Amino acid sequence: MTNVARAAALLRAGELVAFPTETVYGLGADAGNPRAIARIFAAKGRPADHPLIVHLPDASHLERWAVDISAAVGKLAAAFWPGPLTLILKRHPSVLDAITGGQDTVGLRVPNHPLALQLLREFDGGVAAPSANRFGHVSPTTAAHVREELGDAVAMILDGGPCAVGIESTILDLSGGEPRILRPGMLDAAAIGAVLGRPPAFGGELNAPRVSGSLEAHYAPGTPLQLVAAADLAATAAKALAAGRRIAVLAPEAPVHVHQKMVWSAASADAAQFAHELYARLRELDALGCDLILVAAPPAAEAWRAVADRLRRAAAGSK
Ligand code: TXA
Ligand code: MG
Repeated sequence: MTNVARAAALLRAGELVAFPTETVYGLGADAGNPRAIARIFAAKGRPADHPLIVHLPDASHLERWAVDISAAVGKLAAAFWPGPLTLILKRHPSVLDAITGGQDTVGLRVPNHPLALQLLREFDGGVAAPSANRFGHVSPTTAAHVREELGDAVAMILDGGPCAVGIESTILDLSGGEPRILRPGMLDAAAIGAVLGRPPAFGGELNAPRVSGSLEAHYAPGTPLQLVAAADLAATAAKALAAGRRIAVLAPEAPVHVHQKMVWSAASADAAQFAHELYARLRELDALGCDLILVAAPPAAEAWRAVADRLRRAAAGSK
């Protein structure tokens, strides 16, 4: 039996299977099995009212999960699936409350990773999958990260190497009214707007618990993380070092000359590359056991919106 066939059999048996997607690794369970879904919440330590994204093998499965599917949905699916876009639609009555958090909507996406797609085709159904990290932690972008986070709580981890995109999918709410981006991702508003014929709005409810990824206390490493304006980085680093603190710095350039108590990690000046590396870098810097992680704030450009969002939350969550 291939690994994918074994993984699909485990899903059918109600077990948890972690699998790679192009964004981050997902912690998968049969979206039609309440007991399997309960295992996701237990393994993550995640509050039960937080809804889960259902992963589908292709857009032809949409009607099993959603109703009131508009023409815009078809256009977006044709343009971006498989890919890093999650659509929030009106739920089909058969979708379990454990998936939707009791809401009348459901999040759906077709991930763009060969192993994920093989698994979803072999399983031939919806796979509920949050990011495969403990609640509030940094999302995993390698199989090793998943093992560190969840260990024995998962029956199998499919290893597809490092995730290409590196941060979570863009979440677009199409469940009524104006299309709204609830969570920015590397698939940006301009690309979505070009397909919709007008730019989407951005969610005004970023702190609402219905999008758990929007809670401030998310994506946080264990070491306190401070986001610092690039112009202030040298002074902030010098002050921390003068106070005898050990610091890790993620910035395009070293803020001070070599210092025994400073580790500098060179940050990419390219937003896509920065996103690709971000969570692995945060894990590495966290593992150094420094007193503080300083991150240079990224440019205030649209291309950096999703990265800036995750960094802001990491800083807020680490306090
Ligand atoms: O890239 C991704 O989206 C990854 C990979 C594994 O696909 N998944 C992911 O799942 O990031 P998760 O659970 O870590 O984050 C999904 C976010 C959560 O904040 C959840 O609250 C929100 O999507 N969500 C899911 N269904 C929703 C719904 N019906 N309405 C509003 N928010 C929803
Ligand atoms: Mg998550």
